[in-house]
Amino acid sequence: MAADSGGADPRYHQNLMPSMRIALALFLSFGAGAQAPRTPDVHFVPTPAAVVDAMLKLANITASDVVYDLGSGDGRIVIAAAQKFGARGVGIELDSRLVDQANQNARKAGVADKVTFLSVDLFKADISQATVVTLYLLRSINLRLQPKLMRELKPGTRVVSHRFDMGDWKPDQELTVRGARVYLWTIPTR
Ligand SMILES: C[S@@+](CC[C@H](N)C(=O)[O-])C[C@H]1O[C@@H](n2cnc3c(N)ncnc32)[C@H](O)[C@@H]1O
Repeated sequence: MAADSGGADPRYHQNLMPSMRIALALFLSFGAGAQAPRTPDVHFVPTPAAVVDAMLKLANITASDVVYDLGSGDGRIVIAAAQKFGARGVGIELDSRLVDQANQNARKAGVADKVTFLSVDLFKADISQATVVTLYLLRSINLRLQPKLMRELKPGTRVVSHRFDMGDWKPDQELTVRGARVYLWTIPTR
């Protein structure tokens, strides 16, 4: 038998099979139309509790609000909105481990019936039901997101951002809490 045929040698199959299995799995998951997992646009850095409170107060949250946090991390903003104001909340978070953590935190806080966490890309999420949107992303992401906010959110929806502004879109209000800037905008009538 030729030295490189390997066909009858069981060791050849042992070496070949795992890599073939990986290639097949990759083909089935990505080659057949599914997308490779997306890398988050920004890492998880939690908003401090005092800043969360200031954001919710600035947005004048009430029990009739539906608060969407785009890039919700451990869920703290929508959980606080539900706990302190009785609002409903939806967290949009790419990292599924953070979604699991947020669900656990919501159960511990006793608001699991009021909040939902979805493992989706914030640029693809349906945000049309929001009455308040909260953000702690980056200025460049806010600027990319602005057309979606304008297109999908109802006029009168409040948008609150921790630390990062929206360039030429000037906020209705801004304040500083423990050294952190917080901005509020309202979606205008079209
Ligand atoms: C700076 S953290 C803010 C977390 C939380 N909103 C807070 O203020 O405590 C940003 C979060 O956005 C998530 N993220 C980044 N890019 C994303 C994307 N394209 N879609 C959904 N979530 C994303 C990150 O995984 C991270 O948890």
